[in-house]
Amino acid sequence: MSLPSFSSSPSPASAATSAPTQAELLDFVRRAAADAELVASLPLDPEGRTWVRLAGPGGSEAWLIGWPPGTGTGWHDHAESVGAFVTAAGELKENALAARLPADGWKTLELSDGVDRERRLAVGQGRAFGRHHVHEVLNESSDRHAVSVHAYYPPLPQIRRYSRSGQTLRLEQVERPGDWQ
Ligand SMILES: [Fe+2]
Repeated sequence: MSLPSFSSSPSPASAATSAPTQAELLDFVRRAAADAELVASLPLDPEGRTWVRLAGPGGSEAWLIGWPPGTGTGWHDHAESVGAFVTAAGELKENALAARLPADGWKTLELSDGVDRERRLAVGQGRAFGRHHVHEVLNESSDRHAVSVHAYYPPLPQIRRYSRSGQTLRLEQVERPGDWQ
C-alpha cells in the first residue's frame, strides 16, 4: 500500500539551521492530524497498535499511531527529547506526572501526592511537552479506535519504561527506539 507523503514547514532549508521548538512540533502534529487523507491511510488492527512513520519537521521523529479500544503505552518518558501529540480520531487520555524524576541510580521512587495530571484529548486536541516528560497514553474507549500523531526532537534515543503501583514508580526497562512500537 502506498502512503501519502506529508510535507512539513518550516522549509527543509530553515529547519536544518535550528532545532524545532515544541510549538513547531505541535503545529506539525495538528496539521498532520487534520489531514483526513493521511489519517485514513493508517492501517487499523483490532488486535494491536499500528503505526506509520512520518517525516517530522527539522529532523524530528514523527509517527501516526492507531490505538484499538483498551490499548495504552504504559508509563514511560522520552529522555532529553521534547515532543507533541494530538488526537486525530477517537479520544485519548493522558496520565502525566508534574514532577522531574532523578536521571539515574534508582529502581523505585515514591511519588509525592498531587503530582498526577489527567487530560482527555478529543479530536484536534493535543499538547506539547518538555524534556523528561513522564506519561502514559490510553484509549479507554470500549468500542472506538483512536488515531494520533506524535513528534519528538531529538529523535528518541531511548525510552525508560515504568510500572506503577499507587505512588510507587518502578523502573522496568530501558528501550531502544527499535523496541518502542
Ligand atoms: Fe510518550
